Amino acid sequence: MKEGVLPFSQGRVSTRTKSRRAAHWLLIAILGSLLVTWNYLGPDNSLTSFSSKKHEFQKCSIDTFRATGLEFLKTAERPPLEEYVLRRNNLAKALVADGIDAFVVEPGYTFSYYANVTQPEWEVWEPEERPFVMVIRPQETPDGSIVANTTFLVPHFEEVRARLLNMPFVEEISTVTYEEHWNYYTTLWESLIWGEKLSPKLMVDEEMRDFIQRGLGENGFTIVGLSGEVEAVRQTKTEREIGILRAVNTGTVEAIRAMRQCLYRGVTENEVVEVLDNTMRAAGMDPFFNIVEFGKSAALPHGGHDGTRTLQPGDFILIDVGSHLYGYSSDVCRTFYPPFFPNPPPPEYNLTEHLDVWQLVLDAQAASVKAMVENGTAAAVDIAARTLIESAGYGKEFTHRLGHSIGIKAHESPYLNKGNFGAILRPGMVFTSEPGVYVLNHFGVRHEDILVVREDGEAENISGGFARSPWEP
Ligand SMILES: *[C@@H]1O[C@H](CO)[C@@H](O)[C@H](O)[C@H]1NC(C)=O
Ligand SMILES: *[C@@H]1O[C@H](CO)[C@@H](O)[C@H](O)[C@H]1NC(C)=O
Ligand SMILES: *[C@@H]1O[C@H](CO)[C@@H](O)[C@H](O)[C@H]1NC(C)=O
Ligand SMILES: *[C@@H]1O[C@H](CO)[C@@H](O)[C@H](O)[C@H]1NC(C)=O
Ligand SMILES: *[C@@H]1O[C@H](CO)[C@@H](O)[C@H](O)[C@H]1NC(C)=O
Repeated sequence: MKEGVLPFSQGRVSTRTKSRRAAHWLLIAILGSLLVTWNYLGPDNSLTSFSSKKHEFQKCSIDTFRATGLEFLKTAERPPLEEYVLRRNNLAKALVADGIDAFVVEPGYTFSYYANVTQPEWEVWEPEERPFVMVIRPQETPDGSIVANTTFLVPHFEEVRARLLNMPFVEEISTVTYEEHWNYYTTLWESLIWGEKLSPKLMVDEEMRDFIQRGLGENGFTIVGLSGEVEAVRQTKTEREIGILRAVNTGTVEAIRAMRQCLYRGVTENEVVEVLDNTMRAAGMDPFFNIVEFGKSAALPHGGHDGTRTLQPGDFILIDVGSHLYGYSSDVCRTFYPPFFPNPPPPEYNLTEHLDVWQLVLDAQAASVKAMVENGTAAAVDIAARTLIESAGYGKEFTHRLGHSIGIKAHESPYLNKGNFGAILRPGMVFTSEPGVYVLNHFGVRHEDILVVREDGEAENISGGFARSPWEP
């Protein structure tokens, strides 16, 4: 149709060409109006456009979440200075119990636990090659109690910057500084803080980089890895920490419950991720992972598909999600049906196995909670849930450990796996219980809640109560 695209300025035009040209413009007009109508109706023929549907979904979710009053936030406060003093003093006592002269730590999770500085807060670009380490030593007070005495090894030119960090100390920050051309490890070893000790014994954790450990080890110190009472300090949560963990984990479950009420047929997994993240943000929480899986996608426990599956009746929705609040993590999982799917399901969906497995996993979770007792082993908690799932014939489909400890990191030690007989549970330890069954190419179910080991009997749930049915997650 070459004539149809000739410019008008080309002069003499035949009648035949004119009518062809008219037909051409008519076609464009019809296509254009079809496009406009498509935009309005959306692919599912509702009267809103696709993006405004997501907008409605998000508004519904946030409004429903806010309507709960966000009461759960009341148990959380930013840890005050005295909390950090308490943690370091607990560490000092643990160092004495373990026969260690000092705990040394680089900016990171453990440093932020003891002195409120994360790795990016010290160095935003990349981890520094110049050591900046905190050295915490036990010291006896005149009344005989053990308290922490803290020193920082820091490059001379960074000393002022180190003092400007939000490090919670009552006393003046004490430093040992080095010039760049010095051996900084020898500088630390020669400092007066070690008194008469020839080869001070230092404990490090897994965040201490290898080259600094070797540097210390080759220049006068004895290095030992994290264990014993020192490891138990961060594992055993204070009531303030439990208050924050309760708030952020309850809030995360409440956000799932609120979002669920607004779900509709055809929404994608990726859209649910975005809306749920924004719902949590509405309460000041900061989402850091979010796995949303529909139907057979959920047979992979940690996701892996591209998030474009659309929600259809009969699909389970599995959501495993975490947020931060005051630096503490949530990590919860729910598996459920959307509100538009009837209870009980119409028989043609053939969901008996799905419903049985849903209940089996919940029963396994309850069994694990009963085993989560003071002086019990980490292994026993896993085994309690696993035995139930195995006896129902789904042992091979429960492919991962039962759970892990949680705090400023979502995954902390001790780990609840069936081989961990060495880890003994103490009151104040906080764990996930997250049994699951994954039938490949078919479906997956997981329930995850957060529990505190208590002195008097059963562990306490701090994630808003367990799921009750696939319609009451
Ligand atoms: C910890 O650091 C944050 C900012 O990084 C600050 O807002 C807070 O006040 C600090 N906490 C204490 C007890 O100094
Ligand atoms: C910490 O230890 C050093 C060296 O032993 C000592 O000089 C200093 O007074 C101690 N700090 C406090 C606050 O007791
Ligand atoms: C229903 O599902 C089970 C597995 O869950 C399967 O074995 C059975 O063949 C299905 N029945 C029908 C009628 O599709
Ligand atoms: C747990 O063990 C500790 C230390 O052995 C003991 O003091 C405590 O009474 C035990 N608690 C329970 C509930 O058995
Ligand atoms: C969860 O724990 C609370 C106490 O914190 C208790 O009132 C509630 O009954 C528990 N919920 C479930 C489902 O066990």
